[in-house]
Amino acid sequence: MELIKTSCYAELSARIADMISAQLILKPRCTLGLATGSTPIGAYAELARRYQAGAVSFARAVSINLDEYAGMTAETPQSYAYFMNEHLFRHVDFEPENTHLPSGSASSLEEECIRYDRLIETCGGIDLQLLGMGHNGHIGFNEPGDFFIAETHAVKLSESTRSANARFFGGDMEKVPTHAVTMGIRSIMQAKQIVLAVNGQDKMETLKKALYGPITPRIPASILQLHRNLTVVFCEAE
Ligand code: F6R
Repeated sequence: MELIKTSCYAELSARIADMISAQLILKPRCTLGLATGSTPIGAYAELARRYQAGAVSFARAVSINLDEYAGMTAETPQSYAYFMNEHLFRHVDFEPENTHLPSGSASSLEEECIRYDRLIETCGGIDLQLLGMGHNGHIGFNEPGDFFIAETHAVKLSESTRSANARFFGGDMEKVPTHAVTMGIRSIMQAKQIVLAVNGQDKMETLKKALYGPITPRIPASILQLHRNLTVVFCEAE
């Protein structure tokens, strides 16, 4: 495990963009596992700048996102599909057919989960997986529970996750979806490289437990201790 301590959000974002850029240079036809939420926004903006400066290209890359809210289509501004388009896809040269998110609006979420795992397999797995971490230690929407769930699955969001994400819904808890679809622990752990990005003093205690405490599904990020190529980029300042 490599730990990179950064002094501000801009530095955290630049370090993440460095690792994603390096992956794209090393293997232009790579599969990037991408995350949403507030943490990667700066890194995506930095990647867009680098693309516009001609330093990096996504033309041959494939992206596989971690998760999506149940019941949401890409047209809903709070959906993760909308988020990715807004913050990254429309600013760079990804081929639209090479960008993937689980569909939250599929008629059968069960079938959608199976389709998504097959898709990840067809892509040859993930080369670099970018992760954020929830205050409760979730990765993707793998929420704390009694056991790790290997496959892509539908999940009931914890109240802590819903209240943390209420900021994207005008602070109105009523509007925050109760369920989501998330990539499972196996596809995440099988990624060749994992970059875990954690921003903010309020997550440092959970991060310490995740990295140095027992490996437990109560803190899903703790399983990352077992990954052979994990880089943790963090910033204690808000
Ligand atoms: C988002 C995701 C989540 C977030 C986590 C942190 O695709 O998978 O695990 O990474 O909730 O979110 P922020 O960055 O908003 O604190």
